[in-house]
Amino acid sequence: MNAIAAGLDLPGTTSTGVPPQTYNYRVVRQFAVMTVIWGIVGMVVGVYIAAELIWPDLSLGLPWLGYGRLRPLHTNAVIFAFGGSALMATSYYVVQRTCQTRVFSDRLASLHFWGYQLVILLAAITLPLGITTSKEYAELEWPIDILLAVVWVIYAINFFGTLAIRRVRHIYVANWFFAAFVLTVAILHIVNSAEIPVTLWKSYSAYAGAQDAMVEWWYGHNAVGFFLTAGFLGMMYYFIPKQAGRPVYSYRLSVVHFWALIFTYMWAGPHHLHYTALPDWTQSIGMVFSLILLAPSWGGMINGIMTLSGAWDKLRTDPILKFLVVSVSFYGMATFEGPMMSIKTVNALSHYTDWGIGHVHSGALGWVAMISIGSMYYLIPRLWGRDQMHNIAAISLHFWVTTIGVVLYIASMWIAGVMEGLMWRAMNADGTLTYAFVEVVKNTYPYYFVRLVGGLVVLSGMFVMAWNTWKTIRAGHPVDAPIAALHPA
Ligand code: HEM
Ligand code: HEM
Repeated sequence: MNAIAAGLDLPGTTSTGVPPQTYNYRVVRQFAVMTVIWGIVGMVVGVYIAAELIWPDLSLGLPWLGYGRLRPLHTNAVIFAFGGSALMATSYYVVQRTCQTRVFSDRLASLHFWGYQLVILLAAITLPLGITTSKEYAELEWPIDILLAVVWVIYAINFFGTLAIRRVRHIYVANWFFAAFVLTVAILHIVNSAEIPVTLWKSYSAYAGAQDAMVEWWYGHNAVGFFLTAGFLGMMYYFIPKQAGRPVYSYRLSVVHFWALIFTYMWAGPHHLHYTALPDWTQSIGMVFSLILLAPSWGGMINGIMTLSGAWDKLRTDPILKFLVVSVSFYGMATFEGPMMSIKTVNALSHYTDWGIGHVHSGALGWVAMISIGSMYYLIPRLWGRDQMHNIAAISLHFWVTTIGVVLYIASMWIAGVMEGLMWRAMNADGTLTYAFVEVVKNTYPYYFVRLVGGLVVLSGMFVMAWNTWKTIRAGHPVDAPIAALHPA
């Protein structure tokens, strides 16, 4: 039996001139493990800040435990550390396998992994210390911004390099979505982070006033579109067909989906700035493009779900497929709700309220976290030479607690949000406000409590996943799969 068949980790052999015989799964394994770890860290902070909104004294009077500092730590940890690691693990896996070639450079892959972890570590130190640019989702100060830009360029070279050395002519659609994610996030980050340093840890934005807000939300909304959506659609287009054992429902639709989505997302940012100093026409453009965005989003969602045609029965027994398909349903919900919230009159009610938080988490927990978790359950056994995860019932348990937790979270926030919006605008006959602000706050407590329970339930599922992952890894050993032999044609 040769080394590959024995499942041994083979080093890259490109330097000897012999073509590599295996995929680089090492980088996939590294990012996969960090997905689980950062998922837990980010959600622990999420649960903590959810509790702080009920019991503010939980900050213990310590500034670095204060809500204002931990909230950006939560968003950075869940989006960039957890979501980012999931995207990087899956993109390296998918691009290598669908291009039937080893990653462009093992060394760059390693640099990418360690560089990205360093960025996360620096974020975890600086944010609680209150070192921040104060731009949402772009809080990191300039030295970390520069490091991130360098790491991202390394990632881009490696990803596009792998596409360039592919051994099959066709570029599978999942790679288009990953490519859009890699390229666009680089552009967004570099443009939005243009800043003038004044000290080592303090800078000011290169833009001012309304322009600054416009650039920030062009970035912010496209971070939703390209960080929290495009790459995860790449996961959808690879892992759902694989797990269901069915081809993509309509490949043609997937290509239309891709171009329509990336074109439309770019223009929708101003819906975050309704009724602000931004020129009115830009707000209207943002709203119109957001409404148009419903079409490609739902086209993609339907394509993902209909891929199960002929395999619906598998949903009964396969908890990984449940994760993947339910995540796509949440994607459908969030992308219906988003366009509705972008309508100016609806936004007049929803903005500043917890409805927005409900929307965010139906996208972020329901869609992003669930598709990442499903994809990790698919990947982890394969990366460690096992047929399946250590305990399938535990995946099922994880699926149910996540689904219940997410529903508790988003339903409570929807109710709280609509209540807040209505109470804030309620007026007496003489034109005075019916409710004082603090009365509205008091009324949100029961919903905050339900959200906390939902968060705890979701988090408990992550611990089950960590246990299952640990057991799977312990019983297996790292395996780099052999590169498939090409058909002569
Ligand atoms: C156990 C799970 C989670 C809990 C308990 C939780 C809790 C929270 C809380 C309490 C907030 C602040 C809400 C506010 O300011 O009123 C928040 C904000 C946020 N969370 Fe989570 N979260 C969880 C998971 C996630 C995940 C997995 C993601 C993304 C992948 C995410 C993304 C966000 C974002 C983007 C915001 C900012 C929303 C905004 O500014 O409108 N969260 N979360
Ligand atoms: C067709 C797709 C979507 C549209 C048109 C849309 C639209 C919107 C609108 C109108 C808001 C409220 C802005 C405000 O009042 O401040 C919003 C907030 C947000 N959405 Fe979406 N959404 C979409 C999909 C998604 C998805 C899939 C996710 C997550 C994966 C997501 C994440 C967010 C986040 C994080 C915010 C909060 C931003 C902030 O204020 O910090 N959205 N979205």
